[in-house]
Amino acid sequence: MLKTLSIAVLSLAIMPALSMASDPGTLKQGEKLYKSSCVACHSTGAANAPKLGNKKAWEPIIARGMDEMMTVATEGRGAMPARGGTKADDAALRAAVEYMLSRVK
Ligand code: HEC
Repeated sequence: MLKTLSIAVLSLAIMPALSMASDPGTLKQGEKLYKSSCVACHSTGAANAPKLGNKKAWEPIIARGMDEMMTVATEGRGAMPARGGTKADDAALRAAVEYMLSRVK
């Protein structure tokens, strides 16, 4: 029930795809997953991972859009493991991606 609700809330939050208007709850959830897993590569840029907060690295990715980001996040590409090597569901992954996007300055 709660899960269904949060997925519904998430899909609403994502509607204006990259308007960065995610609600604070989603970002908090995303930050948690980011810090537990994604941080291993995305904080250092290891294996060419786009580094957290690096506008230059993220701009072209953002330009391709959220759908593409979610495809890479769920299926993996190159050194990016599927789901970042976690068992996170789509909603949690999307929250982590949103958190990463919220940090692009
Ligand atoms: C083992 C290292 C590693 C981990 C852990 C990792 N990533 Fe990545 N990630 C990468 C690399 C490398 C790329 C660049 C892939 C490419 O374009 O070849 C990438 C790219 C991405 C992209 C950009 C996708 C695009 O459209 O180009 C997103 C979004 C992303 N990762 C999200 C995540 C999330 C969310 C997590 C945690 C759940 C995570 N990553 C964990 C290495 C990692």
